[in-house]
Amino acid sequence: MTETDPLALHIRDGLPDELLALSKRHPREGWARSAGMSGSAGVWLERHGFFRALSDHIAAGLTGFGGGKEDVRAYLGRFQREMGALLSQLDGHHRVEDGHYFPMFSQAAPEMTRGFEILDADHHAIHGGLHDLAEQSRSLLGAAQAGKTDRDIRDLGARLGETLTGFRPLLVRHLDDEEDIVIPLIIERGRTDPRFA
Ligand SMILES: [Fe+2]
Ligand SMILES: [Fe+2]
Repeated sequence: MTETDPLALHIRDGLPDELLALSKRHPREGWARSAGMSGSAGVWLERHGFFRALSDHIAAGLTGFGGGKEDVRAYLGRFQREMGALLSQLDGHHRVEDGHYFPMFSQAAPEMTRGFEILDADHHAIHGGLHDLAEQSRSLLGAAQAGKTDRDIRDLGARLGETLTGFRPLLVRHLDDEEDIVIPLIIERGRTDPRFA
């Protein structure tokens, strides 16, 4: 997918109609009551909820830290754990989707292949963002280890907060669109095909 493709992650504001037929039959409002929620669909939504909440929590923490709200050492210990969890768990989540679920779903529901190609391209775009976040996180933690002033460290934290705040809408767009493809597919096919259970 090219940078200017209308379905590129940073351009689109939702999926095209031809990929939303199943989600119209199984709209989001009914997902919680669906039988599929006790299996992989429920786990999928739980993971996505975790990524939305943790990325929001870290962005808010960095903004407050940059503004001088919390002790530098105390904050950085917490930041390292939280950012480490976000980066590594998102990476692991995408690996499982790219390596296992997307190929399997694509094979079982070829009419949705275009959707999985879009989601796969999203993962590449998101990984560029994760790379930037990892670099800036290393700089922030490295500045503290090198004995930089609290003001310098807080400035780096504030800048990283801006990067994360800019990245987050792309992540949320991807999570929302992926759910609109995957969850209705699991609900629809899970009744008859054990691969979707
Ligand atoms: Fe994904
Ligand atoms: Fe996902």
